[in-house]
Amino acid sequence: MANVEIRPKNLADYIGQEDVKRELSVYLKAAKARGEALDHVLLTGFPGLGKTTLAHIIAHELGSKLHVTSGAALERPGDLAAILSSLSERDVLFVDEIHRLPSSVEEILYPAMEDFKLDIVVGKGPGARILRLSLPRFTLVGATTRSGLLSAPLRDRFGITFKLDFYNEEELLAIVLQTAKALDIEIDREGALEIAKRSRGTPRIANRLLKRVVDFACVEKVEIITRELARKALSLMDLDDIGLGPFDRKLLKVIMEKFDGGPVGLDTLATALCEDPRTLEDVYEPFLIRLGFIRRTKRGRVITNRTYEYFAKRGISHGKLF
Ligand SMILES: Nc1ncnc2c1ncn2[C@@H]1O[C@H](COP(=O)(O)OP(=O)(O)OP(=O)(O)O)[C@@H](O)[C@H]1O
Ligand SMILES: [Mg+2]
Repeated sequence: MANVEIRPKNLADYIGQEDVKRELSVYLKAAKARGEALDHVLLTGFPGLGKTTLAHIIAHELGSKLHVTSGAALERPGDLAAILSSLSERDVLFVDEIHRLPSSVEEILYPAMEDFKLDIVVGKGPGARILRLSLPRFTLVGATTRSGLLSAPLRDRFGITFKLDFYNEEELLAIVLQTAKALDIEIDREGALEIAKRSRGTPRIANRLLKRVVDFACVEKVEIITRELARKALSLMDLDDIGLGPFDRKLLKVIMEKFDGGPVGLDTLATALCEDPRTLEDVYEPFLIRLGFIRRTKRGRVITNRTYEYFAKRGISHGKLF
């Protein structure tokens, strides 16, 4: 099962993000009609919302070769120069985690993106010269979960920018059904809906939950995943009806009980939870903020009345945490 490709390959199978798809399909058609490279594209959005998938789709729809690398892998200017000089006309270069590019590497990217030129330093010391090579016209697709960390000159060189948003329940339902079909899994609409509801607006989580439910069905020797079976499997993971798990509840309770509801700074909160601050910020917080459970203020994180309502409704007392 793990080896089956579940990423959609065509724009038509990429579910949701309707505004992005509408706009992108115009640019793709225009680039193809002119026989030119597509302008550079920046994709931003929280983890698991479909940036990598969309980068692959862009190359596929253009009929172009895709080269994949990441900001963290490009340590020296020479690493990027080697990739750039291997590109052909209209190829797509996907740079994941582009916010992690070192500034020395970023600098050679500027003329490459803007003028399709590669500046190479030849020799050392006073005799060193800059050799300017021409590059084929290519498309850079950059992806980042942290667009705020991109330098302005880099951001400005992307002609097209898309921000991916969380998915609604209907879209997640469609994603679960599409993945189930690709993996040859039998699941009914109600079963898929139970998974969609707990997916925190995120396709990657929807697909992951589906796989865990399939494991459960396999052990139970059940052929079709129904609502009842999905519920049983998901409660085993201690996910509630809106997809919050033990760690989310712990996070909310720590702010509520240890810090009197906040404000509490990110680093202090991370220490209290024994978790990396970046993981808190990128993985756990966005959905809690979206639900309106947490607010980010200048002085730190604050929980809202919704959090108190959430715990009150579920009969979880505000009593001692540990
Ligand atoms: N719009 C979509 N339609 C169908 N499936 C999707 C969609 N978006 C994402 N997926 C599925 O969700 C999973 C995660 O997507 P992807 O890896 O593209 O996310 P990402 O934004 O690149 O995440 P990260 O920031 O962690 O790299 C993939 O397996 C993909 O198949
Ligand atoms: Mg990715």
